[in-house]
Amino acid sequence: MDKPDYRLLDSQVRALLADETDALASASNFVALLYNAMDDVNWLGIYVLRGDELVLGPFQGKPACVRLKIGMGVCGTAATTLQTQRVADVHQFEGHIACDADSRSEIVVPLTSNGTLIGVLDIDSLTPDRFSEIDQQGVEMLCDCFCELQSERRQFI
Ligand code: SME
Repeated sequence: MDKPDYRLLDSQVRALLADETDALASASNFVALLYNAMDDVNWLGIYVLRGDELVLGPFQGKPACVRLKIGMGVCGTAATTLQTQRVADVHQFEGHIACDADSRSEIVVPLTSNGTLIGVLDIDSLTPDRFSEIDQQGVEMLCDCFCELQSERRQFI
């Protein structure tokens, strides 16, 4: 598969979510679109902030850990720092939570609305160092687009 065309994906996200008012349906389609557009990805999904935990939301891949603590693991670190975590080798990331023991690299992008955390997008690969700087920029752009569209509807999931 060629590298994803993130600009094209951005317009596809906008088209897919344009007329839908149900936030859960939109989030599910957002995740499915990305999963099918990205090569060499074994898990892709959203964890939603519920109280002081991240709770499993729409995803593609094997069943995963349901509740993650803020500040722990790759997702929890993205949630506390509000910074994308791009991890070339998950075995080197202290506190990494292995939902699928075969995952080797991971990228987690915080999802925010008006600067407030609403969840994270987590993408895993079986290949070490799978995610490039270009992937990071592209996925961040898509997450911004998704958050903007969901925020307009004043609901997230
Ligand atoms: N690896 C993540 C946990 C979620 S699963 O990868 C789906 C983490 O360390 O936060």
